[in-house]
Amino acid sequence: MTASQHSQETTEAEGTNVSTGPRRTFFIWMIRVIPTLMGFTLLIPLLGYVSSPALRRRVDVWSPIGKVADLPTREPQELEYASTVKDGWRTTSAKKAVWVVKQGDGAITVFSPLCPHLGCGYRWDAPAKQFQCPCHGSVFDVTGKVLAGPAPRPLDVLPTKVEDGQLLVMYKDFKSGLDHAVEL
Ligand code: FES
Repeated sequence: MTASQHSQETTEAEGTNVSTGPRRTFFIWMIRVIPTLMGFTLLIPLLGYVSSPALRRRVDVWSPIGKVADLPTREPQELEYASTVKDGWRTTSAKKAVWVVKQGDGAITVFSPLCPHLGCGYRWDAPAKQFQCPCHGSVFDVTGKVLAGPAPRPLDVLPTKVEDGQLLVMYKDFKSGLDHAVEL
């Protein structure tokens, strides 16, 4: 009997065969690995189903805020509306207010309601024809340009579009204190 025959020792006792050596090790390995692979095969699509919406970036939604025909020219209007945001599985609705200006050429600009300095709410001073921030005294003209104060950039402009005479806006938040707009 050779050495390899010894390593592949088979005991024939009471009518049963018991394999030892490399073949036995291989079977034990298969018994352990196959259920693990099957588990992973089932787990991957399940994880994808559960986690993909949560990993998806927040989706901003267009919201109607008023009729274009109702907007006066170069007289900023503060319009309130319900903004909808889809964040993974969650859909939330929050009350927002934005400043809407129909410029002299008919173009419409919608400003974020937050001062780009440190995020305070500002107001339109009609007699002075300026946006004024009460927190640190920043002043902006009707186009959003900085006239005075510590604001490092003009008022932030929100995306807009017009459909069937309705003005739609997509609300966004921006980092304050920077000299250029960076969306959060
Ligand atoms: Fe508006 Fe500072 S937050 S000037």
